[in-house]
Amino acid sequence: MKSESMLKPLTIKGKNIRVPIIQGGMGVGVSMHPLAKAVAQEGGLGVVSSAILDRLVSKRNNKKVNTYDAVYEEVSLAKVKGGFSGINIMGALARDFTASVKGALDAGADAIISGAGLPLSLPIIQPPKDTALIPIVSSARALEIICKKWEKIGYRPDAVVLEGPLAGGHLGFRIDQVDLESNKLENMLPSVKEMAIKFGNFPLIVAGGIYTHADIVKFMAMGADGVQMGTRFLATEESSATELYKQAVVQATEEDIVVAHRPGSPCGLPFRVIKQSPMYVSALKRLRPPKCDKGYVLMKDAEGNYTVCPAKESNENHFCICNGLLSSGGYNGDKEEALYTVGTNAYRIDKIISVKTLMNELTGTGG
Ligand SMILES: Cc1cc2nc3c(=O)[nH]c(=O)nc-3n(C[C@H](O)[C@H](O)[C@H](O)COP(=O)(O)O)c2cc1C
Ligand code: SF4
Repeated sequence: MKSESMLKPLTIKGKNIRVPIIQGGMGVGVSMHPLAKAVAQEGGLGVVSSAILDRLVSKRNNKKVNTYDAVYEEVSLAKVKGGFSGINIMGALARDFTASVKGALDAGADAIISGAGLPLSLPIIQPPKDTALIPIVSSARALEIICKKWEKIGYRPDAVVLEGPLAGGHLGFRIDQVDLESNKLENMLPSVKEMAIKFGNFPLIVAGGIYTHADIVKFMAMGADGVQMGTRFLATEESSATELYKQAVVQATEEDIVVAHRPGSPCGLPFRVIKQSPMYVSALKRLRPPKCDKGYVLMKDAEGNYTVCPAKESNENHFCICNGLLSSGGYNGDKEEALYTVGTNAYRIDKIISVKTLMNELTGTGG
């Protein structure tokens, strides 16, 4: 028998998510369908990541598939056992953004969660029908800009994720703002809640550094309707990170977790890593010659073609994030070194557990 979560359910776009925990999308190749499906089965919202999915699915299927088909397949697989599953689509992956959104909508994703840039055009790509459109922001101001823009299109966010500076992956802050007291999740929450109420009272989900059941209870008492968690799900049996990645998480100490910046991500945002990650170690010594053979974070040049990435020209200030993250997702590990991104709390993880065990612990029903 399933024991009841002690947390209040989360309702998004009329869908009643029994456990108010969203498993954060983790690219590249970390939150694939096995993780999302397991979270959905435990009553949370499972989330696959769209990042470089065409390569990952092509390799798995031994047949070349495009972004649309890869996204469609992964979302469908995440939903086969029921429950709720969605997809994370980063704005920074501009070249594949539209195809990813269409694939997710056509596959009936329960949610599209989009950050790393303001997803201003998200509602106009295609009518979202039952799919919830959920921006990720790191300030009330960013949410206001999105709501005003979406209002003109006649759409309102179905929920918002407020991500604070303790998160894994890219951080929505300038490097000198990461440690500011005013940017702590608990300090940003009230103004973002107010903004969500102002624009239609949609659910507020908080993310970044949430680790225990008590943390979830605390943020829900402050007005959050749910939480999004990444790092704890990275260290599960069902996550598709390589064994080496998972062991690096288990072994990491607090001092090992740093925010990479010069050399950092070519996306231009601070990026949290385990400092022993092989690609980061090499990047500090500028060992990998610049080479662009994947192209997923390319931006448009003056003619409107996707040709611009700072890591393409020089290894002085940027590492090649496409290859580093592909390697940590088990792709091309023999050719490129891995880059391990984690949240601040990754040092607290001392073993790899199942999603079921983790969800029981987080809901306060066991563990
Ligand atoms: C390994 C890893 C990969 C991530 N990849 C993405 C991503 O592709 N897109 C995104 O929006 N957020 C990404 N994130 C952020 C998570 O979705 C989540 O919001 C964040 O990790 C929450 O903080 P926590 O790790 O302290 O729980 C990633 C986080 C981790 C740890
Ligand atoms: S240089 Fe590297 S990080 Fe930049 S787009 Fe090319 S493959 Fe990706």
